[in-house]
Amino acid sequence: MHPRKLVIAIDGPAASGKSTTARLVAERLGYIHVDTGAMYRAVTLKVLRSGIEPDNVEAIARLMDTTRVQLRQGNTQPAVLLDGEDVTDLIRGPEVTRAVSAVSSLGPVRAAMVREQRSLGREGGIVLEGRDIGTVVFPDAECKFFLIAGIDARARRRMEELRMQGVQAGLNQLKREIEERDRFDSTRPESPLRKAADAIVVDTSDRSIEEQVELVVERVRETMKAMDAS
Ligand code: DC
Repeated sequence: MHPRKLVIAIDGPAASGKSTTARLVAERLGYIHVDTGAMYRAVTLKVLRSGIEPDNVEAIARLMDTTRVQLRQGNTQPAVLLDGEDVTDLIRGPEVTRAVSAVSSLGPVRAAMVREQRSLGREGGIVLEGRDIGTVVFPDAECKFFLIAGIDARARRRMEELRMQGVQAGLNQLKREIEERDRFDSTRPESPLRKAADAIVVDTSDRSIEEQVELVVERVRETMKAMDAS
């Protein structure tokens, strides 16, 4: 492994291939992988369980004071712990998916999660995926990528993911849900989904996972070389 430990930011809209790419890139580099969307999903599960309305910012701010979200590195996907409970599967359910955009748009929720993400990335050697990593969480990240893909490819991927979990969903409904979530995530006032000016755009529509990973790893190695030479 290269002695330099970088921060790698992978942002992009829903189902653009961030999670698989981030996980495999982290594996190749021997870095840790942080799925920040999973962190917002865990908080959303807590809000739903508490019965607090997602627009009750003050109550949610208080709830955040007693909320702990942790990621434990696993073999396939990292385990997500909410106050010590493994909620890895629960946070992928339709209710959380429907509510997560609203909950993650709240200032106190973002403040708490961004604090945690910065602390995880303090020493580098990390691949973080999300919506605002290259713009807000780590604006000085050495490598930034912005993954995009056509809506058909994204909806098909999501459908396959759900099928693996035993959930049937229609393609058109998934397209609507993905587009709606993207619209909400990119138009919110706090840390909207946006490409950082210095991020490299990777269109994953017609690329295999291996190609995506190779492209990202290659760029990271080039950055390391350039840093060594300077
Ligand atoms: O990546 P995902 O689909 O699991 O993310 C779920 C939601 O979390 C997404 O719709 C917006 C929010 N999110 C965010 O606001 N900021 C991030 N860095 C990551 C996710």
